[in-house]
Amino acid sequence: MRFGHATGVSGRFQAEVDPAFRFDVLQGLSQTQKAVPARWLYDLAGSRLFEEITQLADYYPTRVETALLKQHGAEIGRLAGKASAVVEFGSGSSTKTPLLLRELQPAIYVPIDISGEFLRQSGAQLSAQFPELTILPVQADFTRPVQLPPALRGHPTLGFFPGSTIGNLIPWSAIDLLRSMRETLGDGAQLLIGMDRVKDIGRLVRAYDDPEGVTARFNLNLVTRINRELGADIPIAMLRHRARWNAELSRVEMHLEALDDLLFHMCGQRFEMRRGETIHTENSHKYTPDQAKLLLQAGGWTQRHLWTDADQDFLILLAQATEHKSAP
Ligand code: AVJ
Repeated sequence: MRFGHATGVSGRFQAEVDPAFRFDVLQGLSQTQKAVPARWLYDLAGSRLFEEITQLADYYPTRVETALLKQHGAEIGRLAGKASAVVEFGSGSSTKTPLLLRELQPAIYVPIDISGEFLRQSGAQLSAQFPELTILPVQADFTRPVQLPPALRGHPTLGFFPGSTIGNLIPWSAIDLLRSMRETLGDGAQLLIGMDRVKDIGRLVRAYDDPEGVTARFNLNLVTRINRELGADIPIAMLRHRARWNAELSRVEMHLEALDDLLFHMCGQRFEMRRGETIHTENSHKYTPDQAKLLLQAGGWTQRHLWTDADQDFLILLAQATEHKSAP
């Protein structure tokens, strides 16, 4: 669900408040470690700011993954070539999806996204670029198994999940998602997925704390959204964007740190933060090639091929649905 306009700062007229957003924020800010699920970062403004992030010099993942798709497109096409349908989890990204479609030339393309708005936008762009392609958008939450259009029956299918979006999830949930995708796509399917690699900590943190301050604006936009949609009065100027490497859990974390003791109100409740206390807003897990392979295996996928760049920054993995769940 998405909102075209705000309900006003008073928070008195909350007819349009997304109850899931309200629930997640109220619950998350009541925890000892305050946290808001990362998916709420991506409203219209947040999605635009993320697009801006992908252009930053320090944010390498988008650039490197796109280069890998270009460089190895022919080989990917050869290995995944029998797939005549592509199912993308998330609505098509402006540059990566056309690269894959050009190589594979599938008959059918199925983007799955929770946002009908994003589906319409990317669908319109792609149909202009690929007039022959049958595009069958599905509006759904792909973290659960999704019923695919009947037109896909009989088509060998390739799932596409670029962007290292899987890195947003803790491994437990990442495996749930991979298993869901396995169920959505069925036996005989393949999966092409991007994951970001473990690397020099300085470079990792810089990718999430750019000197231009775009990532800071992206992170702080969550507070703007909470204030607007939930009628809260969180003092944005008292919060500071932070990116930290969590070595134990192999991930970059984004937080919003209180510059001083502060308090705010939301939905009739009062909240406090001490100086230095944070709201945890996003995780970005990083994997070694071995860990990536095991993650796929645990999710019901057998790795067929792996591509990486000369700097060893990013991974693209091609896997096939594991045939048997039972032991011999
Ligand atoms: C969209 C989840 C892949 O984790 O790199 C980028 C999100 N957050 N900068 C990532 C993000 C801050 C991004 N993903």
